[in-house]
Amino acid sequence: MTPAPRMALYEGLIFASLNPDVPPLEEYIGDMGWYLDFYLKKSPAGLEVVGAPQRWIMPADWKLAAENFIGDGYHTQSTHMSTIKAGIMRVKSPAYLKEGVQITAGKHGCLFMGFKPGSYFNYPQGIVDSMLENLNEDQVELLNEESIMPLNATVFPNLSFLHSAMAIEAEGELATSVPYLTIRVWQPMGPGKMEIWSWCLVEKDASEEFKRNSNRAYLSTFGASGTLEQDDAENWSGQTRVAAGEMSGQHYLNYSAGTKHVEPIPDGEWPGPGTAYPKNYVDFAQRHFWETYFDHLLDGQNGS
Ligand SMILES: [Fe+2]
Repeated sequence: MTPAPRMALYEGLIFASLNPDVPPLEEYIGDMGWYLDFYLKKSPAGLEVVGAPQRWIMPADWKLAAENFIGDGYHTQSTHMSTIKAGIMRVKSPAYLKEGVQITAGKHGCLFMGFKPGSYFNYPQGIVDSMLENLNEDQVELLNEESIMPLNATVFPNLSFLHSAMAIEAEGELATSVPYLTIRVWQPMGPGKMEIWSWCLVEKDASEEFKRNSNRAYLSTFGASGTLEQDDAENWSGQTRVAAGEMSGQHYLNYSAGTKHVEPIPDGEWPGPGTAYPKNYVDFAQRHFWETYFDHLLDGQNGS
């Protein structure tokens, strides 16, 4: 194998690049690191992978998944409606992602969603205590005063994070939602085909019971056979198939949600870096993703 000329660690994750000229990892992640802390630094003990990492191949373009994970809150209303009706997702309305905050940080994006004040996304008290201790003052302000937590995020180009929760059965009854964290890489395998690498991560110092339940919640929703994962797979493979057809070249895609009516939260009112928009049903992060992607294509054309 060709040795990777550049390798670096970030909060226990290993990054490698075959390009010797990439910027240092800390610089590449930049402002997005502040938001990644909510996924990666909830406990000083760090994270561990629970259950077997999963890999599967999908007949879909990797960019659809990468883009979906930085925005697209509105697809939940149609794509995942059945999981809400079936009580798998314990929310009252499919429009629950309408309210929230969309962020662009550096060349990346992520979404924030609210949780019931004081519930801290239903994390066990031990993890709540350590996250309030381990995160910085501004991050804790978001959790305590705004009651919001990052939901999904993509570090450009193809590394995504997802915090979610699912109701799982406990002793014959529906338990309250159990939170989980998955990270995934959308690995391109050529036009219209990708391999997904997916891990479920839990704080090392969490109880064995929580680790088991969190892994079950992940497997049922965003594992290879998970309900929501399969919902999304239908969209992505269908979009890829249709995009190769005769008609698709005759239409433009609409990425204008929010551009006329939503202004960024003013500096000083949002405790984190980057640009924050006070809605989830907007396309700012997606537009940011595509701008970055096209910048790379132009760099390639210019030989840099
Ligand atoms: Fe989805």
